[in-house]
Amino acid sequence: MSPADLEAELVITANRVLPAGGFGNLASDIVIRSGRGGRVWDESGREYVDFLLGSGPMLVGHANPEVNDAVSAQLALGTTFFANNRHGIRLAEVIVDAVACAEQVRFVSSGTEADMYAMRAARAFRGRERILKFEGGYHGMSDHALMSLAPKQPGNFPQAMPDSAGIPARVVDEMLVAPFNDLAAVEALIRAHHDELAAVIVEPLQRIIPPAPGFLEGLRRVTAEYGIILIFDEVVTGFRFAYGGAQALYGVTPDLCTLGKVIGGGFPLAAIAGRADIMAHFDRARVGDRGFLPQIGTLSGNPIAAAAGLASLDILHRPGAYETIFATGRTLMTALTNLLAKHGVAGQVTGEPPMFDLVFTDRPIVNYRDVLHGDAAKAKKFNALLRERGIMKGDTKYYVSLAHDDADIAQTIAAWDGALGAL
Ligand SMILES: Cc1ncc(COP(=O)(O)O)c(C=O)c1O
Repeated sequence: MSPADLEAELVITANRVLPAGGFGNLASDIVIRSGRGGRVWDESGREYVDFLLGSGPMLVGHANPEVNDAVSAQLALGTTFFANNRHGIRLAEVIVDAVACAEQVRFVSSGTEADMYAMRAARAFRGRERILKFEGGYHGMSDHALMSLAPKQPGNFPQAMPDSAGIPARVVDEMLVAPFNDLAAVEALIRAHHDELAAVIVEPLQRIIPPAPGFLEGLRRVTAEYGIILIFDEVVTGFRFAYGGAQALYGVTPDLCTLGKVIGGGFPLAAIAGRADIMAHFDRARVGDRGFLPQIGTLSGNPIAAAAGLASLDILHRPGAYETIFATGRTLMTALTNLLAKHGVAGQVTGEPPMFDLVFTDRPIVNYRDVLHGDAAKAKKFNALLRERGIMKGDTKYYVSLAHDDADIAQTIAAWDGALGAL
C-alpha cells in the first residue's frame, strides 16, 4: 500500500470506528505520522511547518532529543507506580520555584481535571458554591467549565449558557458569566454576588485576547477585598509566556493556578498549584473529614510524563529561550499584519508572540463577541489554503515553538502571502 493509500484507508477506518471520525480534536481528514522540531509529517509523507504543536505541549519542539533521552531512561525503569517518584517530586519543586502563586502542587492528568479540582478546592476553602467565569473562556470540559464558552447567540450577563448537551440544569445557576476585559461590569457583579462566590476563574490571556491594561490587577484587587479565590487558568500560558507563566508576564499573582500542556512535555500531566492554605484541602490531616477534598488519579504524577516535563522545563530555563520564542512570534505577527495591509484584507492579529491568531474583522479584539464578529468562513478557508501550502495549525491559534527556525518562518510568511492572494 502506498503511503497515500494507507492514509486514505486510515481515514475511512476512523470514520467507521470513531464518532465523527476522530478523537474530538483536529478535523479527521488528516493522520499525522511523525514530528521533529517545528515540523510534522502526515501518513502520506506531506511535510508541514507545525503551529498546532499538539495543541501546545510541544513548546521545545517535537522529538526533542533531550526530552526523548529523559523518557527513555525512565522507560527502562518502569512506566507507572501509583506512588511518589523522584521525577514527580522534582517537577513539583521546579513549579513551586518558578510560579509565583505556587506554594504547593497537586498533579492530575489533564487540564480539564485541574480546572475542575481548582474550582472544587475554592468552594471547599470558601464554603460558597458559585463561580464566576468569562464569556468565551475555556477551562476544559467539566459541567461547570462548559458554560458560555462559545455561545452562538450570546445572552445577557451574568446568565450562564451551557455549551453541551447532558449538563444538569442545576449547574447553570452555579455559574456567573461576565464579559472579559470589562472591569467595571465584572466588579459590579462581584460586589453584587460576593457572598455567594467561591472563585473567579480566568485565562489571563483569554484564548487569543490579551488582558486590557489594569484588568487582571482589578480582578486581583476586588477578589482580594472579599476573600474570593482568584484562579488563573494557565494550562496554555504556564511556562509559555514566561518561565513563571502569565502571572510573571503580567505581574499579577492569583491564589490558585492550573497548569498543563508544557509541564507534561507531550505526555498527559497537569496540575493545580497555589496557596498552601487552599491546597491544604487535599490533605485530610490538615482540614479534617469535612473540609477534605479526595483526589486520586491512576496516572497522577506519572514518572514518564514528569521526566518529559522536567527535561522540557530545563531547556526553557536556559538563557535566551523565551527571547527566542518571543522574537520568532514577533517576526511572524508583524509579517502577518504587514501582509494584511499589502493585500487590503481587514484583519486583527491578536495574542502574544508565543501564541496568536488572525481574526478577519476590522474591529479591535477585546472580548469574545469581537471574535464572534470575525468572518469564521474566511478563517476556515484561509486555514485550508495554508494547509495546502504546508502550514499546519488548529482552527483558532498559532502556537510558536522554540524549535521554529528561519526556514519555518520564511515558509510561513510565503504561505500567508500566497493564501491571502488566493482568498
Ligand atoms: C485554558 C485551557 N484550560 C484548560 C484546558 C483543558 O486541558 P486538557 O485538554 O488537558 O484537558 C485547555 C486545553 O486546551 C485550555 O486551553
